Amino acid sequence: MTAHARNRRRALVVGGSTGIGRGVADAWAEAGIDVTVLSRSAPTGSGADRLRWTPTDLTEADQVTENLARAAAEPLHAVCYSAVHYGDRRTLLRDSTEAEWRRQIEVNLHGLWLTLSRTIPALRRPHAPGLFLGVSSEVVYNAGPGRSGYAASKAAAAALLDSVAQEEDTDAPGSEALRVVQALPAGMVDTPGIRRRRPEGFDYRGYMTPGSFAPLARELAATAGAGLHGAHLVVDGAGGWFPVGERMPVSQSRRISSGPGT
Ligand SMILES: NC(=O)c1ccc[n+]([C@@H]2O[C@H](COP(=O)([O-])OP(=O)(O)OC[C@H]3O[C@@H](n4cnc5c(N)ncnc54)[C@H](OP(=O)(O)O)[C@@H]3O)[C@@H](O)[C@H]2O)c1
Repeated sequence: MTAHARNRRRALVVGGSTGIGRGVADAWAEAGIDVTVLSRSAPTGSGADRLRWTPTDLTEADQVTENLARAAAEPLHAVCYSAVHYGDRRTLLRDSTEAEWRRQIEVNLHGLWLTLSRTIPALRRPHAPGLFLGVSSEVVYNAGPGRSGYAASKAAAAALLDSVAQEEDTDAPGSEALRVVQALPAGMVDTPGIRRRRPEGFDYRGYMTPGSFAPLARELAATAGAGLHGAHLVVDGAGGWFPVGERMPVSQSRRISSGPGT
């Protein structure tokens, strides 16, 4: 391997074809990182030519395991998990199907477990710890009605990341520990996943854009999350961020009858 190839920073974004994951993937690629996206559809539009893409369906366990192993065959500087299955619409538990529940667990939680377990060895490097960024949600703190599968899977995902963060001793001298950071939007973000759940003609002017995550993504890429290990950060529409303990994000937990929500 040449010195250039050895020094090249590599990152993986699971669920980076669209939405917040795409915002992170684009920011990392702009920072000169070699970014691979895992998703079912290819990244398209401006900046897509800077991203590598490995077609992956997170509900196909063998395919996911194989593609993660390939991505983690060389050292990784950063990994982001942003894949999500929201479900078609807000639905009371009594009207929810087992198939929908299983899909939410598979994409929102089990895919995260697979990604953590397969990429952590590639993120461990003495004196140059890697970063794992999990995209979280206000639903972790405000479950709300009509989104039990989404709320339960996202809360479990946040707990999984917290637990892994607590297993890492980042302060030990020469530590190989990775840093784990969770980030969530302060409000709704205009993404394809959310648009699928909104009526035609919906007004998105009050919504954030995935690009709001770019400044934090750039900062995390530059520092590999130093000083932010274990943090839950709320990202605002202007691209700033603050710890969730400082101010809770806006809850989307409106009653089902009062209009669309997450
Ligand atoms: N948007 C918001 O307002 C909002 C608010 C709070 C939290 N969040 C969090 O932000 C994260 C991203 O949400 P988003 O709104 O940006 O979503 P999005 O635009 O729908 O993007 C979801 C990503 O997940 C991938 N994905 C979904 N199912 C997959 C599967 N079976 N296999 C492989 N990839 C799959 C999609 O790629 P393909 O379709 O190409 O497979 C896409 O890249 C989620 O963790 C969500 O909980 C979003």
